[in-house]
Amino acid sequence: MRYFLGIFVFICVAIVAILGFRGTKFTKPPLYIFPDMDWQQKYKPQGENHFFNDERDDRPVVAGTIPRGYSWEMKKVFSKDYEYALALNPSLYTGKDEKGDWIKEFPVEVNHDLMALGQKKFTCFCMVCHGASGDGNGITREYGMIATASYHVDRLREMAIGEIFNTVTDGKGQMNSYADKLSPYERWAVIAYVRALQRAQHASIENVPQAHRAALGL
Ligand code: HEC
Repeated sequence: MRYFLGIFVFICVAIVAILGFRGTKFTKPPLYIFPDMDWQQKYKPQGENHFFNDERDDRPVVAGTIPRGYSWEMKKVFSKDYEYALALNPSLYTGKDEKGDWIKEFPVEVNHDLMALGQKKFTCFCMVCHGASGDGNGITREYGMIATASYHVDRLREMAIGEIFNTVTDGKGQMNSYADKLSPYERWAVIAYVRALQRAQHASIENVPQAHRAALGL
């Protein structure tokens, strides 16, 4: 009987201790049996500090060093003749002209280097879905992606390059944004290459200079 009473009292205390106070709001701080490192001495931002002569917790940047993780080139940005890149050629970043319409002319010089860069980036980022010739038959089709657009339709042939830039920048439908993978310049390069692909699949005899027609047997 003594054992029974002992066990009974122990079980009652255990039940109340484990379940009894669930949901109760405590107003006093909990007992810390193992405070670990919850309280320790530290310097607080803008705090007072008697160790240093200037009595401040915040320490100035050591002369001749550069803080890590801040890529702002302060001196450059605040210099008198600094020019904000976006303001110099807004169309390069937006694909729109000053009236807000999609631009139809490239805001960068179209030359062989741009085209070569465009081909390289297209191969890396677009070919998987759009296919090497831009017909939408990329390798993703084999894995069940069926909706990739072909560039060889009149709607996209006639689409202003500014609007295509917008698609590449912000994405469309199942297509992701490429703003974080391609710089604006690289995006224009890819678009120049897309235009070349469109041209390649939609050429007529008029596009071949007279001098080269014989070589094609025409
Ligand atoms: C993951 C697959 C995928 C990749 C990679 C991809 N696209 Fe697309 N793209 C699509 C799909 C799907 C559509 C059709 C979107 C829709 O109309 O909903 C599309 C549509 C387009 C269109 C037509 C937009 C319109 O207005 O109809 C253009 C132009 C285009 N992509 C260019 C690119 C370029 C340039 C790249 C590389 C930087 C690229 N895409 C990479 C899947 C992809």
